[in-house]
Amino acid sequence: MTGGKGQAVRWIIAAVFIANVASTLADRQPHVVFILADDFGWYDVGYHGSEIRTPNLDRLSAGGVRLENYYVQPLCTPSRNQLMTGRYQIHTGMQHQIIWPCQPYCVPLDEKLLPQLMKEAGYGTHMVGKWHLGMYKKDCLPTRRGFDSYFGYLTGSEDYFTHIRCYQNSSLNLTRCALDLRDGEEVATGYKGVYSTELLSQRAISIIERHNSQKPLFLYVALQAVHSPLQVPERYVAPYSFIKDTNRRLYAGMVSAMDEAVGNITLALQKGGLWNNTVLVFSTDNGGQTLSGGSNWPLRGRKWSLWEGGVHGVGFVASPLLKQPGTVNRKLIHISDWLPTLVGLAGGSTKGTKPLDGFNVWNTISKGFASPRVELLHNIDPLYNDIAPCKFSFFFSPTFRDSWANSSFNVSVHAAIRSSSWKLLTGYPGCDVWFPRPGDNTSESSSSKVDQLKPVMLFNIEKDPEERNEVSAQFPKVVNHLLSRLEQHQRHARPINFPDDDPRCDPGPTGAWGPWA
Ligand SMILES: *[C@@H]1O[C@H](CO)[C@@H](O)[C@H](O)[C@H]1NC(C)=O
Ligand SMILES: *[C@@H]1O[C@H](CO)[C@@H](O)[C@H](O)[C@H]1NC(C)=O
Ligand SMILES: *[C@@H]1O[C@H](CO)[C@@H](O)[C@H](O)[C@H]1NC(C)=O
Ligand SMILES: *[C@@H]1O[C@H](CO)[C@@H](O)[C@H](O)[C@H]1NC(C)=O
Ligand SMILES: *[C@@H]1O[C@H](CO)[C@@H](O)[C@H](O)[C@H]1NC(C)=O
Ligand SMILES: *[C@@H]1O[C@H](CO)[C@@H](O)[C@H](O)[C@H]1NC(C)=O
Ligand SMILES: *[C@@H]1O[C@H](CO)[C@@H](O)[C@H](O)[C@H]1NC(C)=O
Repeated sequence: MTGGKGQAVRWIIAAVFIANVASTLADRQPHVVFILADDFGWYDVGYHGSEIRTPNLDRLSAGGVRLENYYVQPLCTPSRNQLMTGRYQIHTGMQHQIIWPCQPYCVPLDEKLLPQLMKEAGYGTHMVGKWHLGMYKKDCLPTRRGFDSYFGYLTGSEDYFTHIRCYQNSSLNLTRCALDLRDGEEVATGYKGVYSTELLSQRAISIIERHNSQKPLFLYVALQAVHSPLQVPERYVAPYSFIKDTNRRLYAGMVSAMDEAVGNITLALQKGGLWNNTVLVFSTDNGGQTLSGGSNWPLRGRKWSLWEGGVHGVGFVASPLLKQPGTVNRKLIHISDWLPTLVGLAGGSTKGTKPLDGFNVWNTISKGFASPRVELLHNIDPLYNDIAPCKFSFFFSPTFRDSWANSSFNVSVHAAIRSSSWKLLTGYPGCDVWFPRPGDNTSESSSSKVDQLKPVMLFNIEKDPEERNEVSAQFPKVVNHLLSRLEQHQRHARPINFPDDDPRCDPGPTGAWGPWA
């Protein structure tokens, strides 16, 4: 009978519809694993031609999407701050430097962080590794800011084996070396001698193994690797006897350990049956530190500078959910974009956040669509100082002082902004050297000429990614426009919060770094 047949067809349609809805929901809630490397430079990954071998990063990214026009902040705290808030530092008052162990501040508590949003979307949220977003009081800790679980360290730069962090402030008579490792909010003892890269990746793996794959997982793995101190078990260094520079050789070993850790985490996702519904993001937090074995060749500058070597980061996405796997993406993407992108993938809502500076770039990454981002504020920091200056003497060309002194933006202020292919820098951007490719012995040829630095500099990054050809004189309209954009941003900036060290931070002879207020 036609009626019965119609009924059956309707049932089939309904069943297909329900199945589709179910699979759409599943698709909308992928597991998200975000691996953040520390101080990993542009030239330190195999697929950029490095002499350091990174087979896992090469393979994962080759089957995923390599982000080759991807930007991060030049320092630890700022990049992590933007990753967690989706907002520029000028909007959190954290535009200056990093949080030192005794400073009584953290990411403002009225900011809603990425893990909170993922949790609201139904995710299990876990963090392993470096926090560095403030810990002077308990409310600042990762477990109070959206993570169901946390295992890691709260400051930075500690020992890879003892997990001890030393900090001194002579005006407070404070020199303290203390443990910096926590499981949840409790001090984690008993891990002395376990190499950080293995410790953290093993913890990540046990979270994956214990996870109920029916519930979406958000796992943030902020590795200690490959930040200084240069420490690594000998077996990772052995293959690099051909590297003559000791720092670079040790660093190469540390990179190999990190690469292995990423491979192990990926394998755990596959074994646990999570991989086919996982989006894995790999990102550095800032450019490489040339003082500690890192390299950003051929880019100019390094960590702690606004040159490309400080901010043009290594990043990729690996996932069976990508619509165009195996592609190289050259669209402008920034670390502040992950919050709206990942919350979007989670089917969550960003309504509870303050106004975002990041964009949802999933269609850009997955399908190659144009990036919604056309402008990128690298930073504005009127208090900037370079704590590890390179050899040079800063010189403002008098003609340029005259040309742009009329601007309503103070061009002595350390700032940079990108608009499509243009990048404008003002003030002193930080160490400006083109460091030679590791192994090259042509020493001095690459340092800049002193008179090349001006208070206002313009580069066409797409044509000139190495920032060799300063063109402000040829494009005054572009300069004026970008100066006025800087001025607008600065007008909406929060005052810088960078409090004095608090002597009460001292954990005492047997204590650990942690909340004191
Ligand atoms: C630090 O030590 C010096 C010398 O012992 C002393 O004069 C000074 O008052 C101390 N400062 C503080 C802040 O304790
Ligand atoms: C990766 O897994 C292997 C096998 O379990 C282990 O021996 C190695 O230490 C792990 N590497 C890291 C960096 O965790
Ligand atoms: C993903 O893997 C799980 C476990 O192996 C399997 O049950 C599921 O059908 C797979 N999903 C897809 C979309 O392939
Ligand atoms: C411009 O900025 C510099 C560097 O931050 C500062 O020293 C100077 O006082 C500022 N000038 C004015 C007029 O605000
Ligand atoms: C400042 O001077 C430059 C060079 O003389 C000129 O091109 C520009 O329009 C001026 N800008 C403002 C804001 O007056
Ligand atoms: C620099 O490297 C070249 C080629 O590897 C070599 O021939 C030359 O002797 C080296 N010069 C110095 C000063 O080490
Ligand atoms: C040491 O502490 C004092 C007082 O809080 C602060 O002004 C100073 O900047 C600190 N020094 C360093 C090196 O952080």
